[in-house]
Amino acid sequence: MVYYPKSDALDRLPKQFFADLVVKTNAEIAKGFDVINLGQGNPDQPTPPHIVKALQEAAGNPLYHKYSPFRGYDFLKEAIAAFYKREYSVDLDPKTEVAILFGSKTGLVEIGECLLNSGDTVLMPDPGYPDYLSGFALANLHMEKMPLREENAFLPDYGSLPEAVLDRAKLMFLNYPNNPTAVTAPADFFEQTVETAAKYNICVVHDFAYGALGFDGEKPLSFLQTPGAKDVGIEMYTLSKTYNMAGWRVGFALGNRSVIEAIELIQDHYYVSLFGAIQEASAKALLGAQDCVRDLVRRYESRRDAFFSAARSIGWDAVPSKGSFFGWLPVPKGFTSQSFFDHALKEAHVVVAPGIGFGGEGEDYIRVGLLTEPERLTEAVRRIGELRLF
Ligand SMILES: Cc1ncc(COP(=O)(O)O)c(C=O)c1O
Repeated sequence: MVYYPKSDALDRLPKQFFADLVVKTNAEIAKGFDVINLGQGNPDQPTPPHIVKALQEAAGNPLYHKYSPFRGYDFLKEAIAAFYKREYSVDLDPKTEVAILFGSKTGLVEIGECLLNSGDTVLMPDPGYPDYLSGFALANLHMEKMPLREENAFLPDYGSLPEAVLDRAKLMFLNYPNNPTAVTAPADFFEQTVETAAKYNICVVHDFAYGALGFDGEKPLSFLQTPGAKDVGIEMYTLSKTYNMAGWRVGFALGNRSVIEAIELIQDHYYVSLFGAIQEASAKALLGAQDCVRDLVRRYESRRDAFFSAARSIGWDAVPSKGSFFGWLPVPKGFTSQSFFDHALKEAHVVVAPGIGFGGEGEDYIRVGLLTEPERLTEAVRRIGELRLF
C-alpha cells in the first residue's frame, strides 16, 4: 500500500487532549469498577417525545427524500427568527441574518476559513472550548489567548490585552454561559465587547450553546440583545442542549449579514443542508410548547444544588454554577488538574475533566458534568471526600 501523507492543514490539527482520558477511564471500567464519569459533556436525557414524533411523521414526506434546498428550508429560518423574537426580543431577517449549520461545531470550525486568511490573528478564551482550535489550525490562524480568571468573574479583561494584539485581531470567540467555567455574562460586559470590537474592527463570534441553561431564575443574555451587536458579529445557537438533540446536529449562525453570507457560501460548497424532516421537527421544537426546556433547567439546577452542597460539606470550596450543565472547581492543594484526575480515577473511581485540557488558565481547576442524577453526583463527592484532600 502506498502511504499518502496528510496535508499540512490536517497535520496542524491539535491532538485531542481528552482522548487519552477516555482510554484511562475505559481501562478502569474494564477492571469492573463502578466508575462515575463526570468528565464528559453529552446530554443524558432523551429528546422530548413531541419532537421525536414530529421527525417520525415528517420522515414519510417524499419531498424530504430529495435534496434539501442548499441553504435550508425557509420555514426553519423563519422559526429561528420567531424563537429569537419570542425569547430575546431580537429581530432577525430570516433570509439574510440566519444560516443553518450541521450543529454549531461545524460553524465554529468553519468560521475562520470563511473570514480570515493564513496568519491572521484570532482571540481565544483561556480556558475555552477546545474545538475552536481545530478551525484555527485548518485555516492556519495565529491564536492569542484572552485569560478568563476568577478575580474577573471569568470574563476577558479587554483593558489588559496588549494594544498590538487587539490591533491585529480579526476574530474573537466568546461563550456564555461558559464551558468550562459555568458563569454567565452580564449586559455591560457584552456592551464593552461591542465597543472593543468596533474600535479594533474585530468580528465577534458568540457561542451560545448553553443559552437555555441559566440558574436561579436568571435567563442568560443573547449577545444579539446588545445594541450594535449585529454590526460587529454573530451568535451561534444549537438545539443540542436546549432540547437534548445533540445527535441530530442542528445549529444556527445569526446576526451580521456579511458573515452569514460567508457561511452560506462556504456551505454551498461543502454540504447540502440537513435532512428536511429534521428541519421540520426542529422548527416544531422552536415554535412549540417550551415546558420541556423549563423542566430541563430545573433538573440541572437540582443536580447543581445537590453537587455543590455535597462539595461544601467535604470542605471543597467552589462557586456554584450560574449556567450550562457544568461545574468548575479548584483542585486540592498539592495537585495539578491532571494529577487530580489520575488520583480521583484510581482512588475514588470518579472521572473529572482536568482544567488544563481547556487551556493553561484551567490548570488549577477541574470541570464536572452535571449529567447524571443527584444521587450519583453526591456519591461521587462522598468518594472524593473519603480521600481527605480538603
Ligand atoms: C461551548 C460549546 N460550543 C459548542 C458546542 C457544540 O455543540 P453542537 O455542535 O452540538 O451544536 C459544544 C458542545 O459540547 C460546546 O460545549
